[in-house]
Parts: sequence; structure tokens; C-alpha cells
Amino acid sequence: MERTLAIIKPDAVKKRIIGKIIQRIEEEGFKIVEMKLMHLTKQQAEGFYIVHKNKPFYQSLTDFMSSGDIVVMVLERENAIAHWREVMGSTDPALAKPGTIRHTYGFSIERNAVHGSDSPETAEWEINYFFSKSA
Ligand code: CMP
Repeated sequence: MERTLAIIKPDAVKKRIIGKIIQRIEEEGFKIVEMKLMHLTKQQAEGFYIVHKNKPFYQSLTDFMSSGDIVVMVLERENAIAHWREVMGSTDPALAKPGTIRHTYGFSIERNAVHGSDSPETAEWEINYFFSKSA
């Protein structure tokens, strides 16, 4: 069993498709082991995406991620990290395969509905960012 961090981003929460995305998560065999609705501060969004701090899209991305409510979840199943990335589809919805969440619900490379960890190390760091024992 493996765990990954998933986020339903502000664009998807505003569209009121939390339910549709969670339904897909459950149909894909994930167990939701943690879940919370949050509204990140700009500083929290910057901290979460710190690896991108030198990218040209960092300001815009962290403005967007702190612009509205998000749903943060820890998902568990075999091969959770790779499987969730497959279900999400490519970062850019225009390149995502039909049937993926980003193809169906994404609007742009930034407003792409969902997030997922990209490696076991990242998953551990991201899960701890939102669900550390002391938080
Ligand atoms: P996510 O999986 O949350 O990880 C980093 C995010 O940065 C990514 O999804 C996109 O929303 C965003 N992103 C990546 N590349 C770009 C880009 N070229 N322009 C704007 N946003 C981007």
C-alpha cells in the first residue's frame, strides 16, 4: 500500500464538482485516509509550492491556490502515486487524455482542477505539510 497527497483546487471547488472528483477517487479504488476543506493563506500556498519558487508561474500559482477553498486528501491504494497521476492526466488539460480529470474538468495549466504528489519523497513531504502530527 502506498499513500499520496491529492488536492481539489479552487477552480474545481468553485464549480461545485468536489463530489464528482471524490466519486472518481473512490471508483478508482483509493481509500481516503485523511480529508479537510481549507482556505490557504498566500504564505501557506507559497510554502507548499516552494520547489517552484524560481518558476515564472510561482506568483500566479500561489495567488490562485490561495484564492478560494481547496480539499486536501491523503489517498491510499497500491501504486497510489502513479495511479492518481494517471487518473488526473497531464498537467496541461489541453494535453490530458480523454477520461482523465484534467481533460474533463481542467481549464488551463494553472486552473487544472487537481494536484497529486509526483514521487514517494514528495508524497511524504506533502502529506506532512498538511497532516503533520503537531498541526
Ligand atoms: P500541480 O500538479 O499542482 O503542480 C504545480 C503546478 O504548477 C501545476 O499543477 C500547475 O497548476 C502549475 N503549473 C505548472 N506549469 C505551469 C505553467 N507553465 N504555467 C502555469 N502554471 C503551471
